[in-house]
Amino acid sequence: MKLVYTGKTKDVYALEDGNYLLKFKDDVTGENGVFDPGANTVGLTLEGAGKAGLRLTKYFFEILKEKGIPTHYIDADIDNATMTVKPATVFGKGLEVICRYRAVGSFLRRYGMYAEEGQALDAFVEVTIKDDERQDPPISEDALDMLGLLSSAEYKVLKELTQTIGDVVKSELAKKDIELYDIKFEFGRVDDGAQIVLIDEISGGNMRAYKNGQYVEPLQLEKLIVEG
Ligand SMILES: Nc1ncnc2c1ncn2[C@@H]1O[C@H](COP(=O)(O)OP(=O)(O)O)[C@@H](O)[C@H]1O
Ligand SMILES: [Mg+2]
Repeated sequence: MKLVYTGKTKDVYALEDGNYLLKFKDDVTGENGVFDPGANTVGLTLEGAGKAGLRLTKYFFEILKEKGIPTHYIDADIDNATMTVKPATVFGKGLEVICRYRAVGSFLRRYGMYAEEGQALDAFVEVTIKDDERQDPPISEDALDMLGLLSSAEYKVLKELTQTIGDVVKSELAKKDIELYDIKFEFGRVDDGAQIVLIDEISGGNMRAYKNGQYVEPLQLEKLIVEG
């Protein structure tokens, strides 16, 4: 097993059979000890966060599999906090795709002149560049094409997948009276670029969810969804 990447919340290993192994750590993103799914730094370490993130990820990726939505998922080992996945090639050095149902976080910070906090957004899709140094700048469909990161045809696939998967997560949460405000995904190419699939994770650390108007912490979210 060869370590290929050390991330903020996961380590990535190459397996001998060509697949990748993602090891979920107890580190979560945030600043000064406060969790923030949009942050680019490890803000705190919470015991059990890795396994909880993996349990939610497994839960959602298996639902997506049943629905025939393409992802990198192969299987998960909760005890070891690892997930086996198909290796993917990311776009450029990596993009994040956000699906927004309510105006919070960076959307509100950027567009606060025109948007009100909590305003409904109809599965609004935004792409940002994974670039910690430049605080993950948003990028338009035209710029993605021009800079050679993603063709217009691929963008359409990406946007559709994002809204489809976002709606799957949103309706799963709704079954527990939890409202999804926004969620962040990563995608990559597999099979020599022939297919675009969802990669990475779907955990509390990648979304903002609210119950009775109260923000639900990542560890709590896992309990409510997987155990509840
Ligand atoms: N199937 C995959 N193939 C290749 N890379 C992947 C795959 N799934 C996830 N990754 C990458 O593995 C890394 C996971 O570690 P993470 O701690 O989340 O990293 P980051 O600090 O970049 O967010 C991410 O960079 C993500 O893009
Ligand atoms: Mg990550």
